[in-house]
Amino acid sequence: MTVPPLIVAPSILAADFAHLAAEVRAVEHAADWLHVDVMDNHFVPNLTIGLPVVQSLRAATELPFDVHLMIEDPRRWAPGYADAGAYNVTFHAEACDDPVALAKDLRSAGAKAGLAIDRDTPIEPYLDLLPSFDTLLIMTIKAGFGGQRFIPQLLDKVRAARRHVDSGHLELRIEVDGGIAADTIEQAAAAGADAFVAGTAVYGADDPAEAVRRLRALAERAATGV
Ligand code: DX5
Ligand code: ZN
Repeated sequence: MTVPPLIVAPSILAADFAHLAAEVRAVEHAADWLHVDVMDNHFVPNLTIGLPVVQSLRAATELPFDVHLMIEDPRRWAPGYADAGAYNVTFHAEACDDPVALAKDLRSAGAKAGLAIDRDTPIEPYLDLLPSFDTLLIMTIKAGFGGQRFIPQLLDKVRAARRHVDSGHLELRIEVDGGIAADTIEQAAAAGADAFVAGTAVYGADDPAEAVRRLRALAERAATGV
């Protein structure tokens, strides 16, 4: 059996915002996706970047953008990120009353569609919606801030999603976000995640590209069980 390649997605939330293009280029040849956290100070208390920054950054790198929208009213804003060239646009289940309709809009705008599940949201009500999505992002912290402690209990949701995806033969990435680092990524991979967001663990390292390679090696080892 061939194990599908894992995705490592550095989160620029932990990068130096005064030098974003250089920070992105630092991981250009090591990372698979670039994770871009958009926060609106309403859905989460924090405020980060929005569409103009994503549009400018799009020209600065070849890396696919994995946009994580932590915003209210994603039906209004999410398609704009697809139009800006994002590879994957993920919005929160808690912020959207018709996730399937928005997934359809995102796919017609040329992006992959992602559904995010925050810390306190159960996964079960959403499992039947997964055929409409390309990625399922399971928070391993409470969404809103980088640098928080990984919550291992939340991997139960990853296990449930992995069982559902495999038994239904769905083509869906299961992504984990929050506190992913050298000491946590293996458990997340063993639980069935195959895409890993890492902010502090990448941009807090002396050599961000090397940190990405190290995380990937750990996840691969855990996923293949060797
Ligand atoms: C937080 C964001 C994360 C954040 C992760 O809500 O969604 O992507 O950047 O940061 P670390 O890896 O530092 O936990
Ligand atoms: Zn994120």
